Amino acid sequence: MEMIEKIKKLKKERNAVILVHNYQLPEIQELADFTGDSLGLSIEASKTKAEVIVFCGVYFMAETAKILSPQKTVLIPDRDAGCPMADMITAKQLCSLKEKHPQAKVLCYVNTPADVKAESDLCCTSANAVKMVKEALAGEKEVIFVPDKYLADYVSTQTNRNFITWDGYCPSHVKILPQDIRKQKELYPHALTLAHPECTRDVIKLADKVLSTEGMCRYVKETNSQEFIIGTEPGIIYRLKKENPYKIFYPASELAVCPNMKLTTQEKVLWCLEDLKYEIKIPEQTILRAKKSIQKMLRLHN
Ligand code: 13P
Ligand code: SF4
Repeated sequence: MEMIEKIKKLKKERNAVILVHNYQLPEIQELADFTGDSLGLSIEASKTKAEVIVFCGVYFMAETAKILSPQKTVLIPDRDAGCPMADMITAKQLCSLKEKHPQAKVLCYVNTPADVKAESDLCCTSANAVKMVKEALAGEKEVIFVPDKYLADYVSTQTNRNFITWDGYCPSHVKILPQDIRKQKELYPHALTLAHPECTRDVIKLADKVLSTEGMCRYVKETNSQEFIIGTEPGIIYRLKKENPYKIFYPASELAVCPNMKLTTQEKVLWCLEDLKYEIKIPEQTILRAKKSIQKMLRLHN
């Protein structure tokens, strides 16, 4: 309690806001001014009036907040909290891919480093990737979609489009296997299966709904179903239970934990507010170029 009070006090003094991703530890979700998916968090970052943003998530998410609010101080409590999938592609690698396909437009998943976003035409999240392809890229002959090959595959099935892809993937979501889903379905025949589009094709085929993390939270609230098999990082179940105390949730696999999402602790949030560390810094030119691809996504999304 003392720790929470200290954080609250300091947050006020610093005029700070705490943004928290749905996979964060319960103790961090409890500190949140706003909890959400990558899209919701970037929208929140773009409109907050706070001077300091404490981003409890992974590095690319905090970078996205900085790109949208360069005048603000954006802090990440643990600078080692990266996203391995985002780090599977560099700007240099994307540039060589662009050289091979000079006519192609580049769609990048938000799970990318800032300088990859700067080399892209349009950004997307798991909540709006299908919409971006259908609405913004319909007239394009060639589209490079990086870095998640499974998200690209899912979007391809939804839009009837082929993409030039990259061999990236989420090391946590690939741990969910089709046999895990089958086993849970057998045990809980009344449960609906929700899967994140970072899951493999074989898992997605077994799902009743394919949704972003925020999409899952919304869907669970709105539907009459009572039981759910959750095909994503199991940290989201804390929020699902809290918002739907009478519904029941089964993780598709206990192994699908994202270790970097668990690096943030209350102590680190407190230190981060005390010392204003670790600050996200991005070169101005990168911010200007990356901002275009994110803002285009936000405009189309609304
Ligand atoms: P969401 O945008 O659905 O929250 O997904 C982000 C992510 O990193 C999933 O692994
Ligand atoms: Fe990255 Fe996967 Fe972790 Fe999401 S769950 S932050 S994609 S490693």
